[in-house]
Amino acid sequence: MDQTVVTEPDSDRVSRGRLSLVVPTYNERANIAPLIASVARVLDGLDWEIVVVDDDSPDRTFEEVRRLAAADRRIRCLRRVGRRGLSSAVIEGALAASGEVIAVMDADFQHDERILGTMYRKLRDSRADVVVATRYDGEGGVGDWNAGRQAMSRLATWVSRLVIGGRTSDPMSGFFMFRRDVLDEIVYDLSAQGYKILLDMLASARRPLRVEEVPFVFRRRAEGESKISAMVIAEYATLLVEKLSRGLVPGRFVLFCMVGSLGILVHMLALWASRAAGVAFEEGQVMATFIAMLFNFGLNNEVTYRRWRLSGSAIYGGVVAFCLVCSLGALANVSVAELALVQLGSWPLAGLSGALIGGVINFAIADNVVWQVGRRRGRARGQQPSAAAVAVDAAGGESPAR
Ligand code: GDD
Ligand code: MN
Repeated sequence: MDQTVVTEPDSDRVSRGRLSLVVPTYNERANIAPLIASVARVLDGLDWEIVVVDDDSPDRTFEEVRRLAAADRRIRCLRRVGRRGLSSAVIEGALAASGEVIAVMDADFQHDERILGTMYRKLRDSRADVVVATRYDGEGGVGDWNAGRQAMSRLATWVSRLVIGGRTSDPMSGFFMFRRDVLDEIVYDLSAQGYKILLDMLASARRPLRVEEVPFVFRRRAEGESKISAMVIAEYATLLVEKLSRGLVPGRFVLFCMVGSLGILVHMLALWASRAAGVAFEEGQVMATFIAMLFNFGLNNEVTYRRWRLSGSAIYGGVVAFCLVCSLGALANVSVAELALVQLGSWPLAGLSGALIGGVINFAIADNVVWQVGRRRGRARGQQPSAAAVAVDAAGGESPAR
């Protein structure tokens, strides 16, 4: 019998490679099965897998995925417990994927799965690093958004393009595809916070990534509701500041300042209330200061330091430490302001420099001292994943402990 062995060229890894689709989910129980069915139809003939990363959805989306995974090995469920976040979910899903090519897509049918094949061919044929499904080029569009939402999205897109130098028409797209080696190259530089994973990838890469685009029309969400919130938008703002300043201004500092500004409002409200109740100014000022400090501690604990949140009895120590830190900050504030007044001769400038230095000192110490307990605990969890830290479900998942 005559047999010829044909060896394929090794440089053509992508064309033979598996396509891994990473789908982050949070409360998508009603969408996930129809979506997977639809994707399976579109990708018929290709070697594919789907990794659904579910953050322990209250509607138990993960059970639905596990059920599908039991019947089809190409479907996998990664369930994370005690964690939230679209970006980190996508990154961990991509790291657990086995394909040479990785695509990211939402679970709610807003992303047109029918263009996956076109995206895949474009990545293969053009040798791009990333293929972005864009709403803002060619035939693309945002569907029936109202004028307000369109304007918001345009503005955010424009700012984002400033950060990454306009390499794509839609840096905020949550629908894109890339080669796995691109992820391996930049994985240590990703900030992994918030919603904007594509922006994070493009901004974090040390070399300009080659981007190709495929237009699509953003559809209406099928079932359930959007998880975008004020928190998500605040996180996005901090990511931009962090990237624009090349890491000089940490995102946490921006959040810390936002909380501080709200604290001033709370202070003034409390002072006003105490005056209205007939309390003397000095006493009112002291009371208002304490109320504002408690408020700042609480909000920082919930928002800025959410990941290392203090809870239970650790809160008491945290409050005391926070108040001490604030006193140090205030001391620095007043001393610097006095010095600056002599040097600059302008009270607004003097006041501002005092407040700035005080803020920076507050942040620097609070960041290193007050939330150190929570951070240490988080690190200990990272080294030795407990049941509560990370749980991986179903077929072939591996622990994404970081
Ligand atoms: N695992 C996980 N964890 N998944 C999440 C989380 C989370 O904390 N938050 C949201 N998701 C999942 C949702 O279940 C959905 O599949 C997908 O991420 C997108 O979430 P939506 O809540 O539907 O976001 P959106 O429609 O407002 O925003 C989409 O469009 C934006 C462009 O306007 C996203 O694709 C954004 O990335 C995109 O910028
Ligand atoms: Mn959506």
